[in-house]
Amino acid sequence: MYRPQEDSYLLAGALADAGGTKGAKVLDFCTGTGFLAVNAAMLGASSVTAFDINPRAVFSARVNAWSRRLPIRARQGGLDEALRHGPFDIVLSNPPYVPCDGENRDPRWDAGADGRCVLDPLCDSLPTLLTPGGFALIVHSEFTGVEATLSRLREADLKASVVARSRIPFGPVLRNRTDYLYSSQLAEPGALTEEVVVVRADRPRTRS
Ligand SMILES: C[S@@+](CC[C@H](N)C(=O)[O-])C[C@H]1O[C@@H](n2cnc3c(N)ncnc32)[C@H](O)[C@@H]1O
Repeated sequence: MYRPQEDSYLLAGALADAGGTKGAKVLDFCTGTGFLAVNAAMLGASSVTAFDINPRAVFSARVNAWSRRLPIRARQGGLDEALRHGPFDIVLSNPPYVPCDGENRDPRWDAGADGRCVLDPLCDSLPTLLTPGGFALIVHSEFTGVEATLSRLREADLKASVVARSRIPFGPVLRNRTDYLYSSQLAEPGALTEEVVVVRADRPRTRS
């Protein structure tokens, strides 16, 4: 189980700062314990749908929702299932985004050689997942490629910008990945901190 960490808190703060959650229909994609879903519901979302591929995460998100009597439905599934429940006014996601060599060993954070195997399909789906005028907040590391995310979202006709940043020391996962991060030039050799960013994507009310 992925316990809420700095990236989770950065995204929760960005959601509170963004406003507009009251009465909104919200998706928390890659929900884990349901931390972001609970935040959205406590900010007044009318409904929150939370997806995770891990059944233990779904159970945990359900318990966290039920114990607080919040309007959250936690479901097991990936992007295809989430798309069937949309569109949403707000999409939140703290997806796996850690680059790794070889196979994804831990689906809580491993996300392919460039860290983008969950992120890219999510970015590409946002025009469908979001209602006109809706927005998404997605958190990931600088090592996953902030410009790549912004370009991808803009190519999908979304307005995109970084709305929050935090520099944090490498945790145990990245400390185990330094050889790969340095050799693949995703991180500067010797780097021991990473910048985590929240990217906001807005779907215009009308197509340009
Ligand atoms: C970094 S954790 C984030 C958990 C939580 N949202 C938070 O901020 O604390 C990523 C979560 O995504 C889930 N996950 C991984 N791949 C997924 C996919 N393709 N679709 C849905 N969930 C996925 C993992 O099981 C894990 O719970």
